[in-house]
Amino acid sequence: MILSRLLHSNRGKNLFLPAHGRGLALPREISNLLKKRPGIWDLPELPDFGGPLEESGAVAESQEFFAAQFGVKRCWYGVNGATGLLQAALIAMVRPGKAVLMPRNVHRSLIHACAIAHIKPVFFDLPFLADRGHVQPPDVKWMKKVLEQISIRGLDLSAVVLVNPTYHGYSSSLEPLVRMLHLSGLPVLVDEAHGFHFAISDELDLPASAISVGADLVVHSLHKSGPGLVQSAVLWLQGDRIDPFVVNRSVGWVQTSSPSALLLASCEASLREFLRPLGQRRLRQRVDAARKIAFDLLSDGLPLLPNQDPLRLILHTSTAGVSGFEADRYFISKELVAELPEPGCLTFCLGLVRHRGLVKLLQKRWNALLSTRATRKPLGPFLSPEFPLISVLSMDCGTAWTAEFVKLPLQDSVGSVCAELICPYPPGIPMVIPGELLDSRRVQWLISQRTFWANQIPSEIGVLK
Ligand SMILES: Cc1ncc(COP(=O)(O)O)c(C=O)c1O
Repeated sequence: MILSRLLHSNRGKNLFLPAHGRGLALPREISNLLKKRPGIWDLPELPDFGGPLEESGAVAESQEFFAAQFGVKRCWYGVNGATGLLQAALIAMVRPGKAVLMPRNVHRSLIHACAIAHIKPVFFDLPFLADRGHVQPPDVKWMKKVLEQISIRGLDLSAVVLVNPTYHGYSSSLEPLVRMLHLSGLPVLVDEAHGFHFAISDELDLPASAISVGADLVVHSLHKSGPGLVQSAVLWLQGDRIDPFVVNRSVGWVQTSSPSALLLASCEASLREFLRPLGQRRLRQRVDAARKIAFDLLSDGLPLLPNQDPLRLILHTSTAGVSGFEADRYFISKELVAELPEPGCLTFCLGLVRHRGLVKLLQKRWNALLSTRATRKPLGPFLSPEFPLISVLSMDCGTAWTAEFVKLPLQDSVGSVCAELICPYPPGIPMVIPGELLDSRRVQWLISQRTFWANQIPSEIGVLK
């Protein structure tokens, strides 16, 4: 079943992740390796090969070499995606029972880490764009308000997490944010899962990478924003605020004891690819081509939303009265497969491959979709979840998640403490978190979201007994 699906799902236009586009943009070394005798690359941690935690062997040498190339102190390759390395990074930065400030749009992996390690998340809300239902990363002014509130409420933080860029490619200027947080004495972890390519070249006119602005820990998903195989990722450490020994220990806690040699090779090859002139030239071509695609589509009247990552195209379907889900279903029926459908938008990931004829194809499909519609009355504005600027859980996330619970119809859950995570995927951003008190506003908002995400938001919710 799985194998035949893999072999026969090659039709149509793939505008989803991983960014290597079903092998087309894999680094040459990895393509060549995969052409060799099947399985030749499946090795255990032999002494000369080692693994991400070993002090010697090929993996250690590679990590050391590329940490130096990227100008940082240490790096660790990951074989469980950005997920595993974000968890290791958070557990390294924050002790059990201590608090970490994080935006409300964090990936669920960080909530899992809070649950496992009994870390207290303190959430900050983000600017909400009601015309499309997206949040934006914070700017300095926003973050100042957040820190003021933290201080007024006397919350004691151990660290801060930032998510930049978002899945949609929205990015804020990280440099002043990181500087401000460092001045407040806080180490910063940046989830840059979607922005490995930001770390590559100053000449591409992309936002500055978290590495270049001095974030203490940075995680890149190499399959989302680099040419890596799925699950390949890298964690970078710089400065003196975080002890590498502690990070190493945390990576060991969450990493498999048998890391895949193929994935480790893919991590190395992805870093090498983006550092060598040919890889940089290819990236530049992809970025230039993506800018041209967006320009042509906009000139033809397609409702694309501006963002900071040219490799992500956000089609604002709701302006024409079409939800992102409807558009997705229609496009898939025409063999055009996007990455991220949402109530107001459909996001395409161009990845690192060439897309010949994409402008014409998208114009044709979009116009055909519109011609099936009797009305084009815009949808929205979308309802903000109205999180307070700062919010904390009413009880420990891990304790609530593992406690005995009962299922209640959503409308009857007001006043209860949530015992489960509700989190549509993609994008993997939790709407409700275990340990959260469900007030009537949140419950009403959840109920309203069921109109759009019916299959992903259940009509009943698990709450503490
Ligand atoms: C912002 C963000 N961080 C982290 C992750 C996890 O990445 P990975 O799939 O590499 O584990 C995702 C996945 O969607 C994400 O969107």
